[in-house]
Amino acid sequence: MHDQEAAVTSVTAEDYRLPTSVTPERYEIRLSPDLRSFTFAGEETVAITVHQPTAEIVLNAIELEIDRAVVERGERRLTATAVELDPTNERARLRFGETLAAGSWRLTIAFRGILNDKLHGFYRSQYKDSAGQIHRVAATQFEATDARRAFPCWDEPALKASFKVSLVIDDDLTAISNTAIERERRLGDGRKEIVFKETIRMSSYLAAIVVGEFEATEAVDVGGAPLRIVHVPGKRPLTNWAREIGAFSLKFFSDYYAIKYPGDKLDLIAIPDFASGAMENLGAITFRETALLVDEKSASRSELERVADVVSHENAHMWFGDLVTMKWWNGLWLNEAFATFMEMLAVDAWKPQWQRWVSFGVSRAAAMAVDALHSTRPIEYTVRAASEAGGMFDILTYEKGAAVLRMLEQYLGAEEFRKGISLYLRKHQYANAETTDLWDALEESSGQPVRKLMDSWIFQPGFPIVSVRPASGGRGLMLSQRRFAYLPENQPNTQLWRVPVMVKVRTDGGVSTHKILLNETEATLEVPGRIEWALVNQGGHGFYRSRYAPELLDALTSALAELAPIERFALVNDTWAAVVAGLTPLGEFLKMARLFRDETDLNVWRALLAAFNYLDMVIEDAARPALQARVRELLAAAAARLEWTPQRGEDELQSQLRAIILGALGTLGADGDCRDRARELYANYGRDASSVERNLVPALISILAYNGGEAEYREFKENFKAARNPQEEQRYLFSLASFRRLELLRATMDMTLSDEVRTQNAPYLMHSLLNNTICREEAWRFLKRNWDKMIERYPENSIPRMCEGIIALVTLEDEVREFFATHKVKQGGKTIDQHLERLRVAVAFRSREGANLERELKG
Ligand code: BES
Ligand code: ZN
Repeated sequence: MHDQEAAVTSVTAEDYRLPTSVTPERYEIRLSPDLRSFTFAGEETVAITVHQPTAEIVLNAIELEIDRAVVERGERRLTATAVELDPTNERARLRFGETLAAGSWRLTIAFRGILNDKLHGFYRSQYKDSAGQIHRVAATQFEATDARRAFPCWDEPALKASFKVSLVIDDDLTAISNTAIERERRLGDGRKEIVFKETIRMSSYLAAIVVGEFEATEAVDVGGAPLRIVHVPGKRPLTNWAREIGAFSLKFFSDYYAIKYPGDKLDLIAIPDFASGAMENLGAITFRETALLVDEKSASRSELERVADVVSHENAHMWFGDLVTMKWWNGLWLNEAFATFMEMLAVDAWKPQWQRWVSFGVSRAAAMAVDALHSTRPIEYTVRAASEAGGMFDILTYEKGAAVLRMLEQYLGAEEFRKGISLYLRKHQYANAETTDLWDALEESSGQPVRKLMDSWIFQPGFPIVSVRPASGGRGLMLSQRRFAYLPENQPNTQLWRVPVMVKVRTDGGVSTHKILLNETEATLEVPGRIEWALVNQGGHGFYRSRYAPELLDALTSALAELAPIERFALVNDTWAAVVAGLTPLGEFLKMARLFRDETDLNVWRALLAAFNYLDMVIEDAARPALQARVRELLAAAAARLEWTPQRGEDELQSQLRAIILGALGTLGADGDCRDRARELYANYGRDASSVERNLVPALISILAYNGGEAEYREFKENFKAARNPQEEQRYLFSLASFRRLELLRATMDMTLSDEVRTQNAPYLMHSLLNNTICREEAWRFLKRNWDKMIERYPENSIPRMCEGIIALVTLEDEVREFFATHKVKQGGKTIDQHLERLRVAVAFRSREGANLERELKG
């Protein structure tokens, strides 16, 4: 942190941040979007406070023309003598020729802009109805720094103000903004004016406007606030699920936070084109359709879970993010980690049978996969220019952040934690906060030294691996920590964390649990009695990996049945990570995997299969048959036990497990019988959709694509185009990237740049193509050839995500590295470096294990 700051001493804060001499109090904004010409006209009057006398006002604006700017105070009225637009810094400087005295003024600006097609700022979106007719929509997406594309503003999170929005739109359109409609009148020229109520004080990135032929569900009352699902015509049958979790989670959060919902209504709006998953605009949350609209009867459990997750996440933001906002983008985790953590809490409370905290293990592991890189970063991380804010929306902010919150919650106790959170929110409502404010509140309410513990997780990059061995002289365990990394360190790493370690031990006296705060390199845990086995990270909440001395590992793997699913998950995942890091021989993992043949937990299987998928990515083609055979052997018992049809009384997790086991058998395992059976069932499904258990359908599609030829390709592409709901559309679209015939995959490549695929999806389709072992090299050449087009066409924030696909390019490392040396990715933050390091890790693995891989797999 310190050296970063030293490096910027030659640049003053002013280059990055707006001057603080003038701040906004209240915006009155009137916009007139024209959905035919894709332009809009606007006028705003901003109540401002001049803190230091000044002759100029600097605020943010980009891709706007400013026609006029006037400041007024009582009788004084000054028209700007010059308006300078600075596109590089995305600012406008209004010069008035005379000094404005300190105090309150009114600033009026007339401006014009465009409804762009980049899915940010004020943008256009379109969809076809069932008759093939095209309809247009205008929507906003302002986070992190794009409110400035819709109206000139102080576009920084700390400059909170209230917003009073009016819209002038065609008579036959519907408009939605953050608040309820105050009044509406016809203008007599085919247009109407809609005036919305004034918002609470909030950051500019939370303002929202949506215009189009929208329909809304009947409102559900949630503690006095009407909640509706809003969608384009014809999608009413897909709204029920979101309505339920929407109402549940909103109520859940107002109880948890002990603060009522801060808006006057809440609309959850599905937009046909949307860059991310969803956006927490206060009172007007916007979503991509797959994240909100779902057919309850045909969707798989994970598709339903996705909707529940996203809706809960955004609802959680109404407090965390909207009511209390980070001061600056370095503190983004205060928004996103919390929303992610709260999302789990709410979904877990809604459907306890889903065991959401166990499947969160998958996210925690994914965060660790990035955090074990030297190119990782601390959760809170310096952001200078606002343009760097985009780089903060990553797995470290979201998943690592949520995981360390879960660790703290478990350490303090759920109720102590809740009280501290509620206090923090009450203290800072309608305002902004920093990490230190959160520790203050948690310390005040719990009386525990939270800051010391948490600073080691929030401000340091990486995480520890905790090694455990029998303490010398018998009784007890010796624990030690050091930073975990896949690649060797250049110099010895001496970082330490304050690790709340939970240990579960079986001795001759039974099973007991022990708590120890490991804050030095080593600590001894005294355990009375003779230890039969010991498990570190009981409950699996800790953000660290564990490593066992050989005799402890042997003992533990003989006691698998005594471990909870999340503990078995961690055992598999930690062992696999140690293999990738070169600490543990591959053979040991493969031997251990055999012990899991009778495993019944979905997430443990996910951890096992993730390892075999990784092998599939790194091995030479010649070794693939051996891998496939090994996968078949691994899955045989589970597949036989689960069969192809639901068993009486089975729970949803079991039908989901069946789907991933059979799905893997028919793809990764290349099992012929599985393929034939899948074809048969899929044919039945075509005749009668209810004949196949719904969780199995995505697996059938993936097996058919994997083994498919031109006929299947054509059929799936048709199905993509004729899909009856967003999930079906997505299944078939992405299936087009998992065929195994080059000529078909080439056609999919072409689709990424055609109008057949929305730009909200194309980068992710490209990602899948880069990961397909049949076409990855060619997909890479395609990407290089079309890079400029992609940059121009795709939403900016999706480019770093698309590039994650490069981690599979194990034969092209140098070329990939060279390319990114000369092609810098905007908004990437450190993510491109991280992808490149992951590629390095994969290549190192391949050269380390390559020669014996085939033998190991056959062993
Ligand atoms: N605040 C974000 C949306 C966002 C993401 C804005 C990136 C700007 C850049 C929103 O709350 C969010 O986190 N959305 C997630 C889904 C969520 C369930 C993790 C997303 O869009 O992926
Ligand atoms: Zn979020």
